Amino acid sequence: MSNEKQLVADIAQQLQTLAGVAPSVFAVLGSGWKEQAESLISVEQRINLADINHWLMPAVAGHGAELVVGQLIDSDKRVAFITGRVHAYEGYSGAELVRGVRAMIEWGANNVLLLNAAGSLSEDMPPGTLMPLTDHINYSLPNPLAGGDFVDLVDMYHPEWRAALLEKCPELTAGIYAACIGPSYETPAEVAMLQKMGANAVGMSTIPEAIAAHAMGARVMAISMMTNLAAGIGGSRPNHQEVLDTARNHAQKATHTLQLALNLALN
Ligand code: HPA
Repeated sequence: MSNEKQLVADIAQQLQTLAGVAPSVFAVLGSGWKEQAESLISVEQRINLADINHWLMPAVAGHGAELVVGQLIDSDKRVAFITGRVHAYEGYSGAELVRGVRAMIEWGANNVLLLNAAGSLSEDMPPGTLMPLTDHINYSLPNPLAGGDFVDLVDMYHPEWRAALLEKCPELTAGIYAACIGPSYETPAEVAMLQKMGANAVGMSTIPEAIAAHAMGARVMAISMMTNLAAGIGGSRPNHQEVLDTARNHAQKATHTLQLALNLALN
């Protein structure tokens, strides 16, 4: 077993010991998604991720770091929230970025909901718009499968799960997410390029987690919250505080969408 595989197995074992039966669905909550998420569950377990050996802790301000497990209210679903993720711009490899997601799936959670904040590539999707991902363009994030097998990514963002959500929430705008490594925001020239490539939003996360989860056979849904117009659009100059503030201002809508998405995950 590779060292990384051993670490994933070790974390999965710790999760089993600390929290028992795996949830059927877990969500990785980025900015805007985590503020009110706990109102959706009756909390059974709260684990500081710093207490799990080998779990990599996010360093960025505004990213918490807990695993919260509980029962989704008015549902028979056991769910978990992860309230912070590590990013490639912190210097992590592809495999390191997805260690926690892999461990959750190995523990037994087979539905993965990835939430993030993103810059909008169109004035038609203003800040506050929620965008379920139909596909992605990996512009510069490391691939977590390096050293491993070839995997096809067609329909990686589970079409039926997404369609069920869009049916309940017609105000959502599905689209394509592009990722740049950061932590600098994109240049206006890069933004223009991403628009021409057919992307609708740009962020710095999610893609490695989605690839790793799909390769393990888990169902994946991802949703971006537009927190700003991407650099140069309408004179935009993104900054981190604005991203966090806008995300918080739209937390209620995000939480409602999160609830529906969790509920619609297949058992
Ligand atoms: N670019 C990249 N990532 C982001 C942005 C952006 O404009 N906004 C929030 N995350």
